[in-house]
Amino acid sequence: MTKYIVEGGRPLFGEIHIGGAKNAAVAIIPAALMVSGPCRIENVPQISDVTLLLGILQDLGAKVRYVNPHAVEVDCTSLRNGRVPYESARRCRASYYMLGALLGRFGAADVALPGGCDFGGTRPIDQHLKGFRALGVQVDTQSGFVMAEAAGGRLRGASIFLDKSSVGATINIMLAATLAEGMTVIENAAKEPHVVDLANFLNSMGANIMGAGTDVIKIRGVEGLRGGTYSIIPDQIEAGTYMAAVAACGGEVKLCSLIPKHMDCMTAKLSEMGVEIQEMDDSLLVSRIGPLVRANIKTMPYPGFPTDMQPQIAAALCLARGTSVITDSVWNSRFRYTDEFKRMGAQIQVNGNLAIIEGVERLTGAQLEACDLRAGAAMLIAALAAQGISEITNVQYIERGYEDVIGKIRGVGGSIRAVEAPEEELAVSTAG
Ligand code: EPZ
Repeated sequence: MTKYIVEGGRPLFGEIHIGGAKNAAVAIIPAALMVSGPCRIENVPQISDVTLLLGILQDLGAKVRYVNPHAVEVDCTSLRNGRVPYESARRCRASYYMLGALLGRFGAADVALPGGCDFGGTRPIDQHLKGFRALGVQVDTQSGFVMAEAAGGRLRGASIFLDKSSVGATINIMLAATLAEGMTVIENAAKEPHVVDLANFLNSMGANIMGAGTDVIKIRGVEGLRGGTYSIIPDQIEAGTYMAAVAACGGEVKLCSLIPKHMDCMTAKLSEMGVEIQEMDDSLLVSRIGPLVRANIKTMPYPGFPTDMQPQIAAALCLARGTSVITDSVWNSRFRYTDEFKRMGAQIQVNGNLAIIEGVERLTGAQLEACDLRAGAAMLIAALAAQGISEITNVQYIERGYEDVIGKIRGVGGSIRAVEAPEEELAVSTAG
């Protein structure tokens, strides 16, 4: 078991290269199974969720070959349909995109219900299943598996109005509809950059998808997809996480290889908090010299403030002057990390989907346990900004979504190292 030792209290200076977007990669890799012929995916982040999904493709008979550390060639020509087991699905929520992709390719799928980040509340998939049923699929959930099969072996296009603009449902329905017969219309669709990236990937392989990035997506089913090359967009949330780290620690960092437009809501909010941000073509120069100022945050679907940035900005707000209010309007109870912050001296009260933060002068290092991916990233930021030494356990959550986090933080002067700790020691150090 790995843990991170972080010595906090140092400002950050230098450059960080932003990698490919995790949430685009985890949709595009399953989509590749619908492509006949070799398909090369570039700007693939080296994170454990990607390894896991490529492993699922291999188990189903795909040929997977890394061309370089960030480019992978996937050939699913001789793929067979098979069960995606619980052991894979519980470790990565995006494994449920195998449902849409297998339905698209074979008209049938058998996939374990997903795991992934547990925020402490429920993560329903009713909108995914509603979409599949509208496309003529018979869906049965039994013993932890979703078993789905289209009458006659091929899905039929339909109009689907999502009750919630769900990212996952939009992606899954888009996948299933790509090779369906006729036109599918998704209304109240999610508009996140990774939804658009998936549509661009599929279109570049021969799909006919219009309107991604708006709330109405039209998918005209095609007979097949052909191979090609596609490069994944930069990770909006990875970039935002390092922006929040500079806000919390102070210093000046250039974040390279990103899409500034995707960062607009973070740029606006951090500017309000006293962080200076200079925008260039594909980079942002982020600096914080003066004090941090309080702000209110309300998470919303894109282009609003992303829920996946809520814990990281909370870490910075713990050190801002005044009282900040965070409302998470996407997830009900994504504040489990605040108990760890309190042990560092933060003043936070949580009530349902609301957190009230009274800024303090300093946080102090503590033993911290990551409870999900973004919570783990937020603890890392708090530890980097705190006085003294922190130990973070359960870092496998962080490594699900952040490539080379240690190298990137060290590259800007942060003090962090990974140590292997025996499990009994971890059990003692995190008890209670
Ligand atoms: C995606 O999850 C992301 N995951 C999450 O990021 C992110 O927090 C979330 O979108 C919101 O932006 C991936 O892209 C792999 P949703 P997803 O379906 O698709 C409700 C991270 O940290 N809902 O958009 O599961 C749901 O309860 C991860 O990278 C239904 O009611 O989220 C929630 O309140 C964690 N029924 C809202 O919609 C459904 O069938 C949005 O969920 C589906 C969702």
